[in-house]
Amino acid sequence: MAVVVGSNREGRFGPVVAAWLLRHVRDHAGFEVDVVDLADVDLPTSLSYRPSESTRAELAKVTPKLAAADAFIVLTPEYNHSYPAPLKNVIDWHGPEWHAKPVAFVSYGGLSGGLRAVEHLRPVLAELHAVTIRETVSFHNAGALFDEDGAHRDPEAADAAAKAMLDQLAWWAWALRAAKRVRPYES
Ligand SMILES: Cc1cc2nc3c(=O)[nH]c(=O)nc-3n(C[C@H](O)[C@H](O)[C@H](O)COP(=O)(O)O)c2cc1C
Repeated sequence: MAVVVGSNREGRFGPVVAAWLLRHVRDHAGFEVDVVDLADVDLPTSLSYRPSESTRAELAKVTPKLAAADAFIVLTPEYNHSYPAPLKNVIDWHGPEWHAKPVAFVSYGGLSGGLRAVEHLRPVLAELHAVTIRETVSFHNAGALFDEDGAHRDPEAADAAAKAMLDQLAWWAWALRAAKRVRPYES
């Protein structure tokens, strides 16, 4: 599975939530995890069927990980009631890499906990033949929830939400993998 870290803002809070999430993914049976951190990728916003050498080098950091994953978790903050532009950009640069795969969301932000960002991502990923997972983990006023070591100050509810989400994601990953073995997905 691949965890896509959706913010690349200077001074971003994303890595704290990403570290929390990765601890849970690694503790959950059945997932091998790759990280696609959009801060490490510099894709142009102008899409091209004939990308330049430098763009191909950037795509090489991402595309193989997305292609190999049989499930995704998208970690997104909320920017202006939606999700960050680099996340839309990396989604649009790809196509079949998303097809017939499950996508779960972990979100964070201010009052809404990033839930509006998640609801904007669902129809986008449906267009890419992905299956989005109902259960989410969201962090309201995220900055206040974690201590200086990145530990959640009151972890019980978030831990339970992570387990529920990962259980569902594992089921969908298994179900779609098994189905595709019997009958390849046609888009
Ligand atoms: C450009 C921008 C717009 C934002 N808009 C919202 C918003 O609409 N709703 C919200 O709850 N938080 C909003 N926030 C707060 C962010 O969700 C919060 O700062 C979060 O930590 C950002 O993620 P990052 O630090 O990983 O970039 C916004 C922050 C930025 C930088």
